[in-house]
Amino acid sequence: MRELLTLLAAWAALCLAPATVLAQAPVPIGNEACKTCHVPYEAHKVNVYHSDCLACHTPESQHLTEGGKGTVKFPTADKCLSCHQTNDHKRMNWAFSEHKKGQVECRDCHGLHSPKQPKKSNLALWKTDKQSALCMDCHQDVAARMNMPSHHPVKEGGLSCVSCHDPHSGKQTNLVSKNDQCYTCHQAIRGPKVFEHAPVVEDCTICHNPHGTPNRRLLNLSQPMQCLQCHSMALTTHPLVAGKQSGVALRNCTSCHGAIHGSHIDPKLKH
Ligand code: HEC
Ligand code: HEC
Ligand code: HEC
Ligand code: HEC
Ligand code: HEC
Ligand code: HEC
Ligand code: HEC
Ligand code: HEC
Ligand code: HEC
Ligand code: HEC
Repeated sequence: MRELLTLLAAWAALCLAPATVLAQAPVPIGNEACKTCHVPYEAHKVNVYHSDCLACHTPESQHLTEGGKGTVKFPTADKCLSCHQTNDHKRMNWAFSEHKKGQVECRDCHGLHSPKQPKKSNLALWKTDKQSALCMDCHQDVAARMNMPSHHPVKEGGLSCVSCHDPHSGKQTNLVSKNDQCYTCHQAIRGPKVFEHAPVVEDCTICHNPHGTPNRRLLNLSQPMQCLQCHSMALTTHPLVAGKQSGVALRNCTSCHGAIHGSHIDPKLKH
């Protein structure tokens, strides 16, 4: 019986609580309040969907009387996702993305008030290929690879970082099958071939670095080292060595085994 009374009291308190809170709530702030000081106010409206200042910013009441820095919160990813996870399936996997894990915020890539953030890319700039420059700001090691003698033509505008990566998603979803991604542009290499070359079917990046290398054709190693990694016996037991050729003559493996990605006619990968 005593428990029941305590429960009833707690319930009554709960019922009363909202009324108390309401009574003390400050007058709701409207966007009108921002206009008085932020002139030109219009400059902050990037697009019609982003015209509600309070959907992104949470000012302390002090800000509305005194203004100044440090008294308004900038939107974190949660704020953006309150709209962009529901109306926009592409942002669905943000929670699993390497960028979220690395504590990168939406606003690190999206400058929401374009004219005022010249350093950062903005909504309008996404429509050009300036994204890659933004990516390289933070990913210096990749940028360095893009300057190597053999590289995917990203700087040249032939493709961009986002042709292969979705910055909003995890690499599990992005690169779920690296090979399929490569085939979207390099269709000629797609199998099935009558005589497959095992590592090609497995993963293109066994031999190629997707960004850039010092060796021709984006190869991780120069020939014949690339091949000798796995065919280490080739220089001693190769059929031609058993004949008259020296190991040196065999250096450029693909000059004979040109069908390196698989062949329709020759099991030894010749054309
Ligand atoms: C009393 C005038 C005033 C009002 C009202 C006002 N602001 Fe400000 N706000 C300022 C001043 C002044 C600054 C500092 C500008 C500077 O130093 O560059 C500022 C800065 C900001 C900043 C940047 C804060 C920072 O830490 O850099 C944001 C965001 C902002 N205001 C949003 C808002 C929003 C949203 C509203 C409406 C809800 C609003 N402000 C209403 C005067 C005001
Ligand atoms: C879609 C979200 C969003 C909306 C809506 C939004 N802002 Fe912002 N605002 C931001 C972000 C993000 C930053 C920080 C930019 C950065 O870090 O590069 C910012 C920065 C600012 C700043 C400081 C830097 C600057 O550009 O002067 C002010 C002032 C500001 N906002 C005012 C406003 C006002 C006023 C409104 C309403 C007209 C508004 N914002 C609407 C996201 C938003
Ligand atoms: C109040 C809801 C809301 C909030 C909060 C919001 N957005 Fe949006 N945003 C929209 C809507 C609606 C669109 C237009 C439809 C679309 O592209 O999904 C849009 C469009 C965009 C676009 C594409 C614009 C273009 O030109 O194609 C980007 C980028 C964007 N928002 C980023 C952000 C970021 C980053 C934040 C957080 C700082 C944010 N948004 C916060 C509702 C919102
Ligand atoms: C690492 C940089 C980066 C981060 C972090 C990032 N974005 Fe983007 N975002 C981009 C790039 C680049 C594009 C344009 C290329 C594309 O469509 O993937 C883009 C495009 C968009 C678009 C519109 C284009 C479309 O897909 O239709 C929206 C909306 C958007 N981002 C919202 C967000 C939100 C919300 C967050 C935070 C949860 C966020 N972004 C975080 C780089 C980023
Ligand atoms: C503000 C800095 C910043 C920007 C801009 C940025 N990134 Fe990142 N990125 C990070 C951080 C931090 C991580 C977390 C892992 C790490 O430290 O490398 C990351 C991780 C990644 C990963 C996964 C790395 C892994 O180890 O698997 C990829 C892929 C990636 N970013 C691609 C991009 C692309 C594409 C763009 C441009 C659209 C971009 N990033 C822009 C900071 C950034
Ligand atoms: C042709 C497709 C392609 C392009 C273009 C591309 N990447 Fe990658 N990237 C990949 C693949 C595939 C991997 C995974 C490599 C692995 O698993 O060995 C990767 C891995 C990464 C990683 C993880 C760490 C690493 O170095 O392996 C980062 C960070 C990254 N890319 C950033 C970028 C940035 C930034 C750009 C643009 C400058 C870019 N990528 C352009 C395909 C690409
Ligand atoms: C968005 C399209 C695209 C994707 C995806 C793509 N590539 Fe490329 N690739 C290109 C372009 C463009 C070139 C340069 C033009 C050419 O030589 O055909 C190129 C060139 C190459 C080259 C030859 C470089 C040279 O020196 O001639 C290799 C090797 C290569 N890609 C491997 C890959 C691998 C491996 C993948 C998957 C991780 C991949 N590509 C994904 C577009 C793409
Ligand atoms: C066993 C190592 C190896 C693997 C795995 C491999 N490649 Fe290659 N690839 C090479 C070699 C070696 C060359 C250079 C051939 C030559 O000497 O010109 C090459 C050349 C290329 C070229 C340049 C154009 C051409 O056809 O010669 C492209 C594009 C390419 N590879 C894409 C791919 C793709 C896509 C995959 C995955 C499906 C892949 N490679 C897997 C070794 C490999
Ligand atoms: C990651 C390991 C790996 C790399 C790197 C590699 N191969 Fe292979 N290769 C294999 C495997 C596994 C097979 C199939 C098994 C076998 O018959 O030995 C094979 C089969 C072959 C065959 C057919 C052999 C036969 O007996 O039918 C030739 C020829 C060949 N590779 C040449 C090359 C050349 C040339 C290169 C360098 C461009 C190369 N491989 C790089 C793993 C590799
Ligand atoms: C001058 C042409 C030539 C060069 C260069 C060459 N090969 Fe061969 N390779 C052959 C011929 C011919 C065969 C035997 C083909 C057959 O039996 O049909 C062969 C067979 C092979 C086989 C199958 C081995 C077996 O026991 O049947 C492998 C693996 C191989 N080569 C790897 C390599 C590697 C790795 C290199 C580079 C170090 C290389 N080859 C360079 C012509 C060449």
